[in-house]
Amino acid sequence: MTNLFKQAVIAAFVISYNVNAQGGFTEPLTIPDTINSNTVHLYVKDTVHEFVSGIETNTYGISASYLGPTIIMDKGDFVQLNVHNLLDETTTMHWHGMHVAPEDDGGPHTAILAGETWSPDFTVLDEATTFWYHPHLHEKTNEHVSKGAAGMIIIRDEEEAALALPRTYGIDDIPMILQSKAFDASWQIEFGGGTVDDVMLVNGVIEPYVDVPAQMVRFRMLNGSTGRTFNIGVSDNRNIFQIGSDGGLLNAPVAINRIVIAPGERMEFVIDLSGDESETLYLKSYASEFSTGITGAAGGPGATNVLDGADFNVMQLRVTSATAGAITTLPAVLNDLVPIAESSADLTRTLTLDGGGPGNPFTIDGQEMDMEVINQTVELNATEIWEIVNETPIAHPFHIHDIQFYILDRDGVAPPANEQGRKDVVFVYPEETVRFIGTFEDFANEEIPYMYHCHILTHEDGGMMGQFIVVDNSESSVNDVDANSLSVFPNPTEGSINIQSTENGSYKIANAIGQVVLKGLYQEYSSIDLSYLETGIYQLIATSNSGLTSTTKVVKK
Ligand code: C2O
Ligand code: CU
Ligand code: CU
Repeated sequence: MTNLFKQAVIAAFVISYNVNAQGGFTEPLTIPDTINSNTVHLYVKDTVHEFVSGIETNTYGISASYLGPTIIMDKGDFVQLNVHNLLDETTTMHWHGMHVAPEDDGGPHTAILAGETWSPDFTVLDEATTFWYHPHLHEKTNEHVSKGAAGMIIIRDEEEAALALPRTYGIDDIPMILQSKAFDASWQIEFGGGTVDDVMLVNGVIEPYVDVPAQMVRFRMLNGSTGRTFNIGVSDNRNIFQIGSDGGLLNAPVAINRIVIAPGERMEFVIDLSGDESETLYLKSYASEFSTGITGAAGGPGATNVLDGADFNVMQLRVTSATAGAITTLPAVLNDLVPIAESSADLTRTLTLDGGGPGNPFTIDGQEMDMEVINQTVELNATEIWEIVNETPIAHPFHIHDIQFYILDRDGVAPPANEQGRKDVVFVYPEETVRFIGTFEDFANEEIPYMYHCHILTHEDGGMMGQFIVVDNSESSVNDVDANSLSVFPNPTEGSINIQSTENGSYKIANAIGQVVLKGLYQEYSSIDLSYLETGIYQLIATSNSGLTSTTKVVKK
């Protein structure tokens, strides 16, 4: 580009960025760097980034000038994440979607003060999928994320690796962080209610293009916007194949031509570009198809702008020649998920999305988030149905920490195939009731809560969030007459575990592939040294002298 032309482009952006001015798509998509190591360092910093060439925008970046690296983790690995807060203010860092202990979750109680480093470590228990990370400081999440503090996490596992799926990062496996953003006249980021998020970014690039080979190409899409929902399709209306939802692969590819993705959600899908060499296509958001009450529909909610209700291009696909070893067909079977049966639920918990209206924040059960209040107490290992009743006229993406869940129904109707996989966010439409089911396994902590909240960040910050603790009541049953009562703690452990029981007996400890790595006898109170075992997940099978057997999952850190 000549300088003159560049200036003209900048002027065009500054004066009249709007949906009708699209047609640029001259900037290549940024593919975030990857970190694939069991020790990760993230530097959260106050920096500048050029969204428009030659114009510096103040941003927060994570080891980058905007957004952060993609962290790749393998299921079963023990990882340590070091979050260095180089900002002048407190932040936190949350591993959205990951099944980790409350103290490792990075919620609002786990502040990282300016200049400090927070180093959680844990075993990756999740299956192959796309997660993300972002700050979660109470009332500051939107500001920190809007400024750019967020990144993607990719989990890999052996089952996914055995499938013939595209997975060459940046080549036929394209990360996409969708964000609509508000900029002021001098291209500084605005955030909060009432700002006009009319600039569409993918991985921080305005109107990007990406070169993709003429074959099956996978997209890992994350909606990292403050509030906007997208209705993604291809410009020639061909079908796309959704292969994954928040928590992993679906059981089979689902052919659809639109994917609705609300804030916080991730979707993996494949587009068949075989035979399309040298074609140009667009991924678009068909927001004109949205009904009212969806952020991004015509007429709001929120301050309206040119993207609302419009069918706009998100990213240009420039189809190049196929790669060697191209994937040209999709496996018919991707996963073997067995949704949790409704009949196995221990209880149903009803939460109501309410509030809103002039001068009122949206709330859950009429209560604004209070750091000092625990709103729900869940028993460890409980399987629960959460019934989310939306009494408001707008749609809210409801997110819960700790678990992946299965949607049981929407207003009594089973979800479509692409919503039958594992989820941690569910978009609850206006006046709708959604029920989901999940099991709260592995982690209990009476002090540090997990969060549930609307993932529209202005709603979350405004108080549409609650806290739950998971409590382990099993220790209190040690004195019960039931001879099989047995408690194992601490769990997870870095060193030894204690067994407390009402009877003596024998135990075996088996690794993930069922090999017995340790066995012995236990008394009513015994300690077993696990310090030399590799990190990972084990089964402790205890058989009491009267022949009662119990199996406990033990996590070695
Ligand atoms: Cu993505 Cu509680 O957050
Ligand atoms: Cu989360
Ligand atoms: Cu909301």
